[in-house]
Formats: sequence, structure tokens, C-alpha cells
Amino acid sequence: MDRNTVDPLSVASHTLSTGDRIPCIGLGTFGSDKYGPDEIAAAVDGALKVGYRLIDCAACYGNEDKIGPVFESALKNGLKREELFVISKVWNDSHGYQAVQRSCEKSLRDLKLDYLDAYLVHWPFPNYHAPGCDGDSRNPDSRPYLHDEFMETWAGVEELVKRGLVRNPGVSNVTIPKLRLILKDAKIRPVLNEMELHPSFQQGELFQFTLDNGMQPIGYCPIGSPSRPERDRSADDVNDMEMPELKAIAERHNVHPALICLKWAVQRGQIPIPFSVKPAQYLSNLKAVTGDKLTREEMNVLRGLDRNARMIKGQVFLWPGAKSWLDLWDVDGVIPGWTSD
Ligand SMILES: NC(=O)c1ccc[n+]([C@@H]2O[C@H](COP(=O)([O-])OP(=O)(O)OC[C@H]3O[C@@H](n4cnc5c(N)ncnc54)[C@H](OP(=O)(O)O)[C@@H]3O)[C@@H](O)[C@H]2O)c1
Repeated sequence: MDRNTVDPLSVASHTLSTGDRIPCIGLGTFGSDKYGPDEIAAAVDGALKVGYRLIDCAACYGNEDKIGPVFESALKNGLKREELFVISKVWNDSHGYQAVQRSCEKSLRDLKLDYLDAYLVHWPFPNYHAPGCDGDSRNPDSRPYLHDEFMETWAGVEELVKRGLVRNPGVSNVTIPKLRLILKDAKIRPVLNEMELHPSFQQGELFQFTLDNGMQPIGYCPIGSPSRPERDRSADDVNDMEMPELKAIAERHNVHPALICLKWAVQRGQIPIPFSVKPAQYLSNLKAVTGDKLTREEMNVLRGLDRNARMIKGQVFLWPGAKSWLDLWDVDGVIPGWTSD
């Protein structure tokens, strides 16, 4: 191995409840309305070459058809399918028993794969917003979480598992109250739970609940999503990279603060999926989690940086009658229903 690659075998992995193994870090593929499909496909190609084996995709990122040929060529050139772990997600406009299956089939065609290692329900609402919309846009057809409706979509995901198209089903952007209902009624339980996780937003209770129920947490925006779209920015956002304690640890390790976020994530037990199209960044991100570790003391300092600072508030998914983005996250422990007449 030269200095510009990492041996995939040196990257730690987790065993999922199904027995499948998943690397402890992956590459994100959401361009944040800033990076285009070709750039992202080139990054996936580069990432596979430097040693990544986990790629987090989604239909709504609008680039699966560009990433597919990258997988196809890597598999033709010697990468074994079982060495690769590909996640995709059903978008909010394709909920429902039949629609989720059609959406998965399309992702498979676009990604040029016979099966997905994981397939997640991206959001627990069928609430659609147009790509690139601004933060004030609302869809009048949006609705709150309706459990029966969600379970129809989940039944479609279960069918995909039975059809051999999906190995590990999962959820994303759910809360403990929603998960309790889903776990109660699912015939095939979610194996993965993808959620926002970075030092200033640690979601301790949801993280522990996920582990306690045999699911693997995957952490999105692991370095605080510095390039996120305007609609996901607000005045009181915390910038993880600027937190003095985090910067001090980074200085001590002589690395960028981003890499401390990734070391912290892996040592805590979630799987970070940092995005980058820049080869130096994605290589250093992978190297960070195979290199020196944070001390117990440093981990404790980072644990103290939780500010409950959610960045991806999801306000574009609010339904008529909802009060604020907090309604999406069941902050009182209760799932809000319809509040309009
Ligand atoms: N399930 C969901 O609902 C959901 C939601 C959001 C995201 N995701 C997934 O999570 C992935 C990651 O989230 P994200 O892209 O929002 O946030 P992120 O990974 O926290 O941030 C990505 C940005 O961080 C910067 N960066 C990356 N590596 C760096 C390094 N070594 N040094 C300095 N800066 C570095 C880059 O900024 P520059 O480009 O400016 O250099 C990059 O664009 C997404 O791509 C997507 O796959 C899922």
C-alpha cells in the first residue's frame, strides 16, 4: 500500500444484526446543491481506489445513474461485490407498498447492482420538496407521521428483502416514539438507523435506543456539514469546526478538526459518512479512522460539546397546521398528528 491508499482490511467494521459486516466509515454522496453528479461520481471512483468500501447513496441525490457505471467498472476490474457495501434510500415521493419497490428497482438499475446492502426509508413522511428549493418552501400535501401509512411503505421494504433485492432494511430521520411503533409492528426489524450526528449534536438517547434495539447507528453530517444548502442554515447554528475544545484536540493531533469529528464518531460506535469530492479530504478522512486514536480524556471532552444543535431541521417537510420544525422531531416524546381543521 502506498501513502495515498488505505488497505480496506485495515478499516474496522461492525457486524449487523443480520450477520453482514459494514465498514466503520463510508463516503456520502449528497452534493448539497453545490457539487454536480459527475463530480460526485468521480469522487466515488477515487474513494473506491483509495480504500473506501461503504458508499451512502439515495435516489433524491440525483446522481445514482452516474455512480452506477463507477460500481460497474470497479466490479469488472476485480472488486468483489461482497467487499462493497452500498446504501440507497427511497425518497419521500415514493412511499407506499408498490412505489417503494419501484423506486428500489430504479435505484438498482441506476446503480447497476443486483441487490443493495442496505435500503433506508429516507424520511418517515411522504412529504416531497423540489430539489434545490429554499427553506421557506412548503408542500400543501404534506402530512404528519401517520403510522399505518408508514407501515405500508415498510411492508414494501420487507417485500424487497424477501425478493432478495435488499439485505439490510433501515430507517432515517426517525425518533424514539416513532421507532417504538415501528419496532412493535415490523415483521422485519430495521437493521440500520441513519441520523444526524456530530459533536455539537450527539442525540445520546436516540443513539443508545438504536444500539439497545440491535440497530447500527449511521451518522450523517459527521463534520457538521460546512457546505450544506442555504435552506439548512439558521442564525443560531453551531459550527463544530470552530469549537475551541475541538480545535485544541485537533492541534494536539496536528490534524484538521474534521478528522477529530471522524475519530470521535468511530470510537463512539456510529458509522460516519463524510462527503467530499476532494481527493486530499476523502483520503485524510479514511486515514484518520485507521490512524492514532483519541484518548479517553479527549473522548470525554468531546462528549461535553453536545449543544443539541440540530442543523438539518427539515422544515420544508412541515404540514399545514404544524407549528415549527420541532414538530418533526417529537421533542415532547409525543408524535404530533393533524393540528389543522
Ligand atoms: N439521511 C439523511 O437524511 C441525510 C441527510 C444529510 C446527509 N446525509 C448523508 O450524509 C453525507 C454527509 O453529510 P454532509 O455532506 O451534509 O456533511 P459532512 O460530511 O459533515 O460535510 C461535508 C463537507 O465537509 C467538508 N470536508 C469533508 N472532509 C473534510 C476534511 N477532511 N477537511 C476539511 N473539510 C472537509 C467539505 O466541504 P467543502 O466541500 O466546502 O470542502 C464537504 O463538502 C451526505 O453526503 C449524505 O450521503 C444523509
